[in-house]
Amino acid sequence: MSADVLDPRPARRQGRRAPVPVPPEHGWQERAILVGTEHGPHQGLSGEESLGELERLVDTAGVLVAGKALQTVRRINPATYIGAGKVEQVEAMIRERAANVAIFDDSLSPAQQRNLERALKVKVVDRSQLILDIFARRAQSLAGKLQVELAQLEYLLPRLTRQWQHLSRLGGGVGTRGPGETQLEVDRRRVREKIARLRRRLLDVERTRGLHRRSRASVPYPCIALVGYTNSGKSTLMNRLTEAEVFVEDKLFATLDPTVRRLALPSGGAALLIDTVGFINKLPHGFVDAFKSTLEEVREADLLLHVLDASNPQAADQAVVVERVLGELSAADTPRITVLNKADLLPPGHRAAIGAGGPSCTISARTGDGIDTLLEAVDRALQSRLTRLHVTLPVSRGDLLARLRQAGTIVREDYDGDRVEIVAMVPEKLAGQVRKAVGPRASC
Ligand code: GTP
Repeated sequence: MSADVLDPRPARRQGRRAPVPVPPEHGWQERAILVGTEHGPHQGLSGEESLGELERLVDTAGVLVAGKALQTVRRINPATYIGAGKVEQVEAMIRERAANVAIFDDSLSPAQQRNLERALKVKVVDRSQLILDIFARRAQSLAGKLQVELAQLEYLLPRLTRQWQHLSRLGGGVGTRGPGETQLEVDRRRVREKIARLRRRLLDVERTRGLHRRSRASVPYPCIALVGYTNSGKSTLMNRLTEAEVFVEDKLFATLDPTVRRLALPSGGAALLIDTVGFINKLPHGFVDAFKSTLEEVREADLLLHVLDASNPQAADQAVVVERVLGELSAADTPRITVLNKADLLPPGHRAAIGAGGPSCTISARTGDGIDTLLEAVDRALQSRLTRLHVTLPVSRGDLLARLRQAGTIVREDYDGDRVEIVAMVPEKLAGQVRKAVGPRASC
C-alpha cells in the first residue's frame, strides 16, 4: 500500500540534504526511518501495505518520514528482530538522512528494542508504542485518558530496566509523550503502584459508564454501533445521519471516545447510534483488553454498521481485520450491514463488492448519496429483529403504551373498561421491560 493511495494529499518531498536536527520540543519535526518486514504468504495486509499504513500512523503522530526499509524475514533474529545486515543498512540510512528515530512496524521485545537502540544510536519505537502515543494525544474523556495511561505504563513496565538513562539520553518526542514520559524517572515499584491506582480509578469511571449504559438500556430504542477500520468514515457518517458534531479529520484515530446520538428512522421509529474507535491491523498487545469498556458499546449493540472505505484498494483486507477484532469482542454474530463508503471516489459505473455477505449499501457519507437506502436497510434489519408482544395493560399505563408506539408497531389494540389488550412487534429489549413492568400474568 503506498501512502499516496490512502492519502490524497501530495507526498511530502524529503530533502536529500540533511538539515541540522532540532529537538522536537523546539517545534521541529522528528525525522523517522520506518522499518517493516515481509513474512512470506500473508493473510490481511502484506509487509509493504502494512508499512504504508505505518507511514500514515507516523504522519498522524506528526513525525516526518525520512526513509523506509523493508526486509523479507524467514526467521526472526531474537536479538534485533531484523538481520544484522539490515541493521547496518538502517543505521547508514539514519546517518545519511539525519533521522533521529527508527520506527518498527512489528512489536519488539524489550531486549530487541534495547539492542536496536544501541546499534542504531537513536530512539527505537514500535507500532504499539506509536499507536499508544497517538492515543495519548487523542483521548478526550477521563476513561479514555486513563485507559491510554494504563496501556502505556503496562507497555513500559518490562522496559524499565536500565532503559531510563538510555531513553533520557535519546530525548523526548514520539513514543514518549503522554503520561509515560514522567514515569521514566521512577522505579518499577512506583510504576506498579501507579498501575494499581489507575486500575482502581478506571473501575470507578467504568462503574459510572456502566450506569450510563444501563440508563441507555432502559431507553426503548435499539442500539446501533458504527464499527470499521480507522479513517473509513464512521464519524462523517455519524454526522451525516444525526447532525452530531463529531470530530472528523483525515488522520487515523480521529475519534477515540464513543459518542451516542439519537437516530430517526424512516419508519418513524428511532435508535441510538454509537460511533466507536477505529480498528487497525496489529493493534498493540492488550489493546482490546485496555479499551474493553470503550468497546463494550460494540458488544452490546443490536446492530452493527460496518463502515468500509470502498475507494481503498486494501478495503477487503481491512474488513478481515475488523472481523477479527469483532470476534475478539464476542460480537462476531451480531447482525450487521456492510456500508461501502466513499462511493464518490469510485470511478463512475464501478460497483464495490466487499464484505462478508449479508446486506450491504453503497453510500457517500460526504455527499449524502445512498443514505436513504441505508436508513431503509437499517429499518428492515431492526424490524426483522422485532419480537411479538401480547400484553394487557391498565389504561393508566399510558407511559408503556407510548413506549410501545415509539419503538415498535402496534398490531392490535382492544380497550375493555380500564384495561387495554395489545399485540405489538417491538424490540426484544422493550418486550422484556414491559413484561417486567406488568408482571408475567398480564403478558403471554
Ligand atoms: P477514525 O476516527 O480514525 O476511526 O476515522 P473515521 O472512520 O471516523 O473516519 P472520519 O469520519 O474521520 O473520516 C476520515 C476521512 O475520510 C475524512 O477526511 C473524511 O472527510 C473522509 N471521508 C469520510 N467519508 C467520505 C466520503 O464519503 N467520501 C470522501 N471522499 N471522503 C470521505
